[in-house]
Amino acid sequence: MNQLISAKDRLIFALDVPDRNEAERYVRLLGDVVGCFKIGLELFIKEGPDILKMVKGNSSASIFLDLKLHDIPATVHSALRSAATHGVRFITIHGSDGESILQTASEVKGSGLEVLAVTVLTSVSESQLSGLGYKENLSLNQLVLERALCAEKSGCAGVICSGAEVAAIKNTCGAGFKAVVPGIRPAWGEVKADDQSRIVTPKDAITNGADLIVVGRPIRDASEPAVAAGKIVDEIQSAIVS
Ligand code: C5P
Repeated sequence: MNQLISAKDRLIFALDVPDRNEAERYVRLLGDVVGCFKIGLELFIKEGPDILKMVKGNSSASIFLDLKLHDIPATVHSALRSAATHGVRFITIHGSDGESILQTASEVKGSGLEVLAVTVLTSVSESQLSGLGYKENLSLNQLVLERALCAEKSGCAGVICSGAEVAAIKNTCGAGFKAVVPGIRPAWGEVKADDQSRIVTPKDAITNGADLIVVGRPIRDASEPAVAAGKIVDEIQSAIVS
């Protein structure tokens, strides 16, 4: 288990909110409690790169630009180069189209931008795979592992995967290859109409080998978001020392 990263730095809060006002409210509330803010499509498309300046102006936490890029290699490469000028720490690309797209990651190495490949979205369940066109006997774990290996060989810094697959990925790809885990649900929280399917608790994710975890609604929708985030940091800490 990676014990070098502090518990706080292992917690990424997903700023899944509609606009700058809401985002700023959460950044002010959580800026000292979490290690990183994840900005996704909803907020970035609404507010553009100015939203990154707002986060930097209100917190020293790092930024994860979760745009899940998915296009031809030349376009992804150019998009990564543009992202590198924004001073963000992480960005995501889809890992479903193989090496040529994943290799674009190595072209921004050294820029400070770490490229994470999305293996399979954590909202996808095994029973959906054949409907998505995959062969009948392919397991979700196999698919995730194949994509993680391809991402590692192609020069990505790590992958996004569920807590159920993280141990196999760390074993296969090595400890230095980052595993970032969304689909986190603390035992004490309830998310209404949940769309996540491969979920784990913060403790289990860290114990299984996650370097960082992504938490959105369990913090965002809590009556006291900073308290909820603090409880998750404590849970991460207890998993690191146990
Ligand atoms: O609210 P919740 O904790 O489910 O938020 C999870 C966040 O992680 C969302 O922003 C979602 O887009 C993101 N994510 C995910 N599964 C992936 C990659 C990213 O849930 N495979």
